[in-house]
Amino acid sequence: MRVLIIGSGGREHALAWAIMKSPLLTKLYVAPGNPGTARIAENVPLRAMDIPAIVKFAVEQRLDLVVPGPEAPLVAGIADALAEVGIACFGPSAAAAQLEGSKIFTKQVADAAGIPTAHWKKFTDADAAHAYLDEVGAPIVIKADGLAAGKGVVVAAELDEAHEAVTAIMEDKIHGAAGASVVIEQCLVGEEISVFALCDGEEALFFGAAADHKRVGEGDTGPNTGGMGAIFNPPWATQDIIQRSMEEVVRPALKEMARRGTPYRGFLFAGLMVEEDGPKLIEFNVRFGDPECETVLPMLNSDLLAALKAAVQGELGSVEPAWRPGSSATVVMCAKGYPGAYATGSEIFGLDEASDLPGVLIFHAGTMAEQGGILANGGRVLAVNALGTDLREALSRAYAAIDRLDWEDGFCRRDIGWRALLELDRFELNRGATQLGK
Ligand code: AMP
Ligand code: GLY
Repeated sequence: MRVLIIGSGGREHALAWAIMKSPLLTKLYVAPGNPGTARIAENVPLRAMDIPAIVKFAVEQRLDLVVPGPEAPLVAGIADALAEVGIACFGPSAAAAQLEGSKIFTKQVADAAGIPTAHWKKFTDADAAHAYLDEVGAPIVIKADGLAAGKGVVVAAELDEAHEAVTAIMEDKIHGAAGASVVIEQCLVGEEISVFALCDGEEALFFGAAADHKRVGEGDTGPNTGGMGAIFNPPWATQDIIQRSMEEVVRPALKEMARRGTPYRGFLFAGLMVEEDGPKLIEFNVRFGDPECETVLPMLNSDLLAALKAAVQGELGSVEPAWRPGSSATVVMCAKGYPGAYATGSEIFGLDEASDLPGVLIFHAGTMAEQGGILANGGRVLAVNALGTDLREALSRAYAAIDRLDWEDGFCRRDIGWRALLELDRFELNRGATQLGK
């Protein structure tokens, strides 16, 4: 198969790495890609949002499949444009991509499908929103309706903060038109998981779970980022929770989207809060997570391309993904200053020495190649993944790889997986106590 991946981040490098292993593959392009994808596939200098150019390339190159990584080209209709010229795309139509494009749309789908989620109300008028906040109090969550580069959500512990968020989003319009409408919703309490499903329009196949660390600071403090690190299958993603997530959240959403005449095809990412009485939907994304993708795909022990092919052909029933034993963790190396202003152009040394360590894969996220060297070229720069027999080993391998990197202008969080490690410690303590009591 002749395949094109769209995007240039760590997620797309991981997709390329996994698809490269498929015996079905004859040629892999990445547009625009990065120096990591250039090593294993052919980069094409097309921007992810230049849909006409991508369609033209796909036709000229007689591609069999296009796999968009990020949400923006999907929301802009890349799958529809490719369908018009008869080229298969593993990703939703613009209409189905509204599951990520609009928070109000998602809440309406959730309510129509009976999906458990936070109680919510929509506002287009700032005064009404302020009045509602005074009525319900804090903690409370305020969300800009449209895409706001992952910065459109404020979880307000205090009422003052909630009012400030409404003023910033609706009156000062800090997210522009994306904040013309807001959702105000109940604050959910529990541990978060990202659940991934491979969808063919009718059926959904569980495709891994992970826990991300969104805040920039250790102990999950400071501003939100795209994701500072992730672990595979955290302890709170029990089999029961995964099964319930698929039955109570993913499958009802798929059914509702099909009923509306906009069937959902592609990776569906359910961001869930595991509350005491079960999983609650926080949000859907219409793509794989990043750095979750770099964490989940290294655990996959079967053919990713065969699974994507089956999904676009509506034959998901024939696919049974296989997973490796053990665990997986990813730590993201960022440029100092991220998620605020940061400098680009500093050189990163030690990449080969770091990737030589057992179980380690380094995915490029925001890099550029210059005169044989690799330079930083983004906020999130590298996604350092490691596999291990358990989470502790995976994490210590990822950090050992990071210690071999020599990059003055970079930083990472040193505590990725801390909640999971605490939970595992607690479990082991309990088990020890039970055994002593015998
Ligand atoms: P989002 O930008 O939609 O990914 O949301 C960012 C983060 O805000 C989520 O990962 C959650 O940690 C948090 N969040 C969103 N909605 C809620 C909610 N209803 N209750 C508690 N936390 C939430
Ligand atoms: N890491 C979270 C996301 O991709 O949205």
